[in-house]
Amino acid sequence: MTLNSPSYQVVNLGVDFIVGREKKSILSELNFTVGKGEFLSICGPSGTGKTTLLRALCGLVATTPGSLVRYAEDEVTSPPEGVVLVFQNYSASLLPWRSVARNVALGLEGKVPRAEMNERISRALELVGLAGSKKDYPWRLSGGMQQRVQIARALAVRPDVLLMDEPFGALDAMTKSAMQDELQRLRDATNATVVFVTHDIEEAVYLSDRVLVINGTPATITHEIGVDLPRPRDQITTKESDEYLKLRHKVHQAIHAVAP
Ligand SMILES: Nc1ncnc2c1ncn2[C@@H]1O[C@H](COP(=O)(O)OP(=O)(O)OP(=O)(O)O)[C@@H](O)[C@H]1O
Ligand SMILES: [Mg+2]
Repeated sequence: MTLNSPSYQVVNLGVDFIVGREKKSILSELNFTVGKGEFLSICGPSGTGKTTLLRALCGLVATTPGSLVRYAEDEVTSPPEGVVLVFQNYSASLLPWRSVARNVALGLEGKVPRAEMNERISRALELVGLAGSKKDYPWRLSGGMQQRVQIARALAVRPDVLLMDEPFGALDAMTKSAMQDELQRLRDATNATVVFVTHDIEEAVYLSDRVLVINGTPATITHEIGVDLPRPRDQITTKESDEYLKLRHKVHQAIHAVAP
């Protein structure tokens, strides 16, 4: 794969669910690519199909005939190597009987030598500010801390692509902005591709290179907004700039436009 080739290519993506006896069309004719190293946000009202879209990028839902999801040249039918999904519901994704460090180890076991695994676990926990909680158990941590364990688990894999489903939605404002900056820093350092689902318009604009808005039943892409703000970005100066405020306005209008 060349450096500028797309990481993901999505063509005519549709997802239907059968609810009772009825077919419910959730996503229809979604067409987009995700560039290598791009930070792409997906925004849209609750229940429109954002989580379903991320699951489709991992091959975890059946798609309609004619749909194509391709990652690094290959059609996706199961979670691709190098792609990690950070779930919306962190409490269901951590194993309560494993310590924090053993939870972070989950994606590494059997794949890297023990010494490297321990080094990666320590580094990932340091990055999310949980170096002191290695031996603790998830159920003894606050919600925000549990979500940081899940993020550490994803980072420890050193993924090419991070698919993140409202990863900071449950965090308090201070932890949230610290995690946003940490994620930016990590992205810059690793050039990982990020597909980021969020309800938070400010977060989408602050972090992204591009925002896709999905809406409607079934959901389609209703707006695509490029975010050409200079990097590195800063919680104060970026958010005070005219360009940022204009983009925030634009994304807000797009999300609140009447669904097609
Ligand atoms: N396995 C399933 N079977 C049937 N219907 C489903 C299934 N998973 C999701 N749905 C339905 O698909 C629609 C989209 O769900 P999804 O979780 O993708 O929405 P979302 O945009 O992520 O919402 P939120 O912002 O609240 O997280 C909803 O109407 C939901 O009820
Ligand atoms: Mg969701």
